[in-house]
Amino acid sequence: MSFKNWTLEHDGEGITWVTLNRPEASANTLASSVMDELSDVLDVLDEIKPRGVVFRSGKSAGFIAGADIEEFKGMDIPKGRALIKRGWDLFNRLAAVKYPTLALIRGHCMGGGLELALACRYRIVVDEPGTRLALPEVKLGIVPGWGGMLRLPRLVGPAVALDMMLTGRTVDARRAKKIGLADACVPPRVMTQAAKSLVVSGQSAYRPPLAQRLQNGLLRGFVAKQAIKSVAQKANPIHYPAPYAIIEMWRNYAGNSLEVPAHLTTSLDAVLSSTTTANLVRVFFLQERLKSFGKVEAGAAAKFDPQHVHVIGAGVMGGDIAAWCALRGLRVTLQDQSVERIAPAIVRAQKTFERSLREPRLVRQALDRLIPDAHGDGVIQADVIIEAIFENLEAKQTLFADLEQRAKPTAILASNTSSLKLGDIAKGLRAPERLVGIHFFNPVAQMQLVEVVKGAATLAEHVERAAVFVRKLDKLPLPVADAPGFLVNAVLAPYLEEAMRCVDEGIAPELVDRAATDFGMPMGPIELADTVGLDIAAKVGTQLVSGPNGSQPGATPPQRLSELLAAGHLGRKSGQGYYRYVDGKPQKSSVAEAAEDLSKLTERLIHPMLAAAQALVAAGVVSDADAADAGVIFGTGFAPFRGGPLHYLARR
Ligand code: NAI
Repeated sequence: MSFKNWTLEHDGEGITWVTLNRPEASANTLASSVMDELSDVLDVLDEIKPRGVVFRSGKSAGFIAGADIEEFKGMDIPKGRALIKRGWDLFNRLAAVKYPTLALIRGHCMGGGLELALACRYRIVVDEPGTRLALPEVKLGIVPGWGGMLRLPRLVGPAVALDMMLTGRTVDARRAKKIGLADACVPPRVMTQAAKSLVVSGQSAYRPPLAQRLQNGLLRGFVAKQAIKSVAQKANPIHYPAPYAIIEMWRNYAGNSLEVPAHLTTSLDAVLSSTTTANLVRVFFLQERLKSFGKVEAGAAAKFDPQHVHVIGAGVMGGDIAAWCALRGLRVTLQDQSVERIAPAIVRAQKTFERSLREPRLVRQALDRLIPDAHGDGVIQADVIIEAIFENLEAKQTLFADLEQRAKPTAILASNTSSLKLGDIAKGLRAPERLVGIHFFNPVAQMQLVEVVKGAATLAEHVERAAVFVRKLDKLPLPVADAPGFLVNAVLAPYLEEAMRCVDEGIAPELVDRAATDFGMPMGPIELADTVGLDIAAKVGTQLVSGPNGSQPGATPPQRLSELLAAGHLGRKSGQGYYRYVDGKPQKSSVAEAAEDLSKLTERLIHPMLAAAQALVAAGVVSDADAADAGVIFGTGFAPFRGGPLHYLARR
């Protein structure tokens, strides 16, 4: 029996296989039509009274990606409540059916998809790297309202469940089994048989250990208090109401968000009407927009599937870019002036692999993909060549002139330069249209954004191919023009400069930083400058910022900055910058804690950033305001709940 989205097949053993396969979509989402039909599916199942029911996906991409976020656009309280109520009622109905149910989870299982799985009696996860489970609603500023807040804590205990719900963290197949979220973790070849056996086994549903049951019962208040304490360290309830609402809904309303009285700050109504929610949904779509730059439908770029990357320069950036490429499954040759200069990058890469891959076999395979190549033999085979040598124009020109002769004609030639003009680097080339900028940010593993730079001569096709490559690395490509500092550094530099001038005027660095974190920045500008390195910050500042009173680039740098540099204090890496560092942590005085209203200082700091973003859009460095907002959020951490600098500017 077939519905538009669901298919029911009965096998000879009384088991009904219910397959979700949304037509014309690459992934399954729980759109309204899918949820409405699920209700019809349950009607049919009630009639046929199967021996068991297995829910599975017809998509190779995964199980279910979650709710259809398109439907969150323009959400208001009545619409939001109706959407939550339908899912809450439907999954409660599924949880109460008489016949045994099982979710067979292969690939991603997110949000509403996991809530559906939680409403089943059993869950089997398929042991593959793509199998990942999460309740990431908090990242959109909302709550898992379809039963996740009720069932996940009951199944895996509130400590693990709250951690998952408050961070949106994913768990892989093995961990899902370990924490009790899945009854079994099986390889793909036996998954169908395993599902068949378990669903009719008569085995009682998984019951968590006593300690976890107590935390859900008697100790609930204590657990909630601890959770609030730890959330308070990361999220201001005024900026981010959802995590606090999740804790309260679990503690006092058995996970039923519809029950919380509307006047409370932890109510569903408060969450739905907060600008944070609207802005985080906006950020989700901004992220999709960035991803779309790397999805090319037609032309040569659409077929570009790079396998081999050659990186030149094994320093801070080149070493980490090479490691990231190898981690993402590409074959990488890493060149520098000598083997000795490559070695530290390999040691660093090994640590990264161990942290992210954990299994020794996978670590070994990743290391095998990362090949030290002091003579640059990899150049002739590479599909992408990334230059990350010293920031020196002549050295880069000489290097590219040689690369151009040896590289495959189809290979991308890319520079990671921060401050040189791509057009200048391309000057010595026979085919300057081949050169693109692929500008990563430091630290490579953590920063999602990568600017893809089009020089005046660069062919659009090479920019597209570079964006496809960046997506292959699971990063977010942003096309930008060849202007000083591109987008991100050009927005950051005047902000850092203003912060340093504040310190020169006698304002404590702690106060300056707090004014920015109060606004929602992940780190204050002074601490950020220390973290980037004061030498690098000074260099970027000299090139990009006009001095006080609108003077030209190269104007007197901030005084304290010059003093620190003269004394050899480079920030965190040297143990002393604007702050002193102990074990990598800045030692801050408590002056900022007593301060009350810092809004004027905040305004002063943020203004140069907003003005720069506006000017860069006007100058065509990025295509439009949304692209600029996306770039600044994912490239600087600009308070996501504000929706981006230009969105914020237009609405305040
Ligand atoms: P780095 O000084 O850490 O590393 C440069 C490496 O290049 C050194 O190991 C050096 O031996 C090697 N090298 C120099 N000339 C070479 C040649 N002809 N052939 C082979 N290897 C050569 O520099 P870092 O910080 O990694 O910067 C590299 C590039 O990345 C620069 O263009 C910089 O503007 C850019 N960048 C730097 C960022 C940062 O935060 N450090 C951020 C984004 C881009």
